[in-house]
Amino acid sequence: IFGALPPQGEDQIIRLMGQFRADPRPDKVDLGVGVYRNAQGVTPVMRAVQTAEQQLLQSQNTKAYTALAGEQAFRDAMADLVLGPAQDPARLASVATVGGTGAVFMALRLVTMARPDAQVWVSDPTWPNHIPITQHVGLGLKTYRYFDAESRAIDAAAMLADLSQVRPGDVVLLHGCCHNPTGANPQPSDWQALATLLATKGAVPLIDIAYQGFGDGLEADAAATRLIAQTCEEVLIAASCSKNFGVYRERAGVLMVMTPPQLRDTLQGTLTALNRLNYSFPPDHGARLVSMVLTDPALRADWQAELEDMRTGMLHLRETLARELRRLTGSDRFGFLAQHRGMFSRLGATPEQVEKLRADHGIYMVGDSRMNIAGLTKANVSQVAQAIAACNI
Ligand code: LMR
Repeated sequence: IFGALPPQGEDQIIRLMGQFRADPRPDKVDLGVGVYRNAQGVTPVMRAVQTAEQQLLQSQNTKAYTALAGEQAFRDAMADLVLGPAQDPARLASVATVGGTGAVFMALRLVTMARPDAQVWVSDPTWPNHIPITQHVGLGLKTYRYFDAESRAIDAAAMLADLSQVRPGDVVLLHGCCHNPTGANPQPSDWQALATLLATKGAVPLIDIAYQGFGDGLEADAAATRLIAQTCEEVLIAASCSKNFGVYRERAGVLMVMTPPQLRDTLQGTLTALNRLNYSFPPDHGARLVSMVLTDPALRADWQAELEDMRTGMLHLRETLARELRRLTGSDRFGFLAQHRGMFSRLGATPEQVEKLRADHGIYMVGDSRMNIAGLTKANVSQVAQAIAACNI
């Protein structure tokens, strides 16, 4: 039966990880996959997560199954973190998922069950995995304009114009904060206009929020999600714990669905059934660590402090790179690096320039010139700036 299988294209981010590992150059710089790195270039286990892990080792006396929808404590803690005061338990159904990607996948599977002819609108550009997941579940794909290649800011007018064509029941995929891959984000007034437009059109926002705490802070980064949750009747929210808790390989995430109260129980039952169909019980370890950190005041305070250090460290690296490029090129054209937020910025280099950065300078970024700011360090930032300047980007 397998003879008819078509070959699968490899995901460009995953391919780049392999290429980087295989490169023997000692001064190579990894600005590819979206993984936080500290000043030593290490992706640390966060302090509070380590403490929770030690506590868990002492206290956990069974690995028996938990709940099909995932632990209630985890889902409640994540609803608090993401939705805060916008939370309305009467409207909220949720399941723990296999990371944030699992939450996106489950959200789109849910849409296929409810509205198989819905079209999914994704920003141009978007995280490369959004598109194949949408196609894999069999939903129609549409793109909306988002990024202005000249200014490297968002083109809000074009985004709103394109999204004015959505049909009722269409799904609009939004990055809740820290847009991946561009680093360019809507202003609060753009979010307001977007929320009103989607509510008026009867479209369903699917908010992918994977970097809460990496942009302007935990609360500020959740503001758009909260606004939309309060403005639109039906909302899908896929939240990842990979980056802000640093539990990447544990695969901790949650899918939350806001719905009219009379549909809430049906949604909760459907989400739970989807877990059972796909993999039965969701992974517990990472989710449990997250809920331990969020519900213990001392652990939570320590986690927030470390996350804030990570965030401000990335901001500092942004400013340093922009300053260094201003000095080397005598122009302000890289000023956008300091304006962008989150882990990524799209540099605006051509694929040939990206390849030259890799081949001649050992600097790895995704082919669309997305760079992971957390891959910069004090030690390599001027090397990167010099290479960018040398490639005449
Ligand atoms: C990224 O965008 O690099 C991360 O979200 C990792 C991934 O799975 O692609």
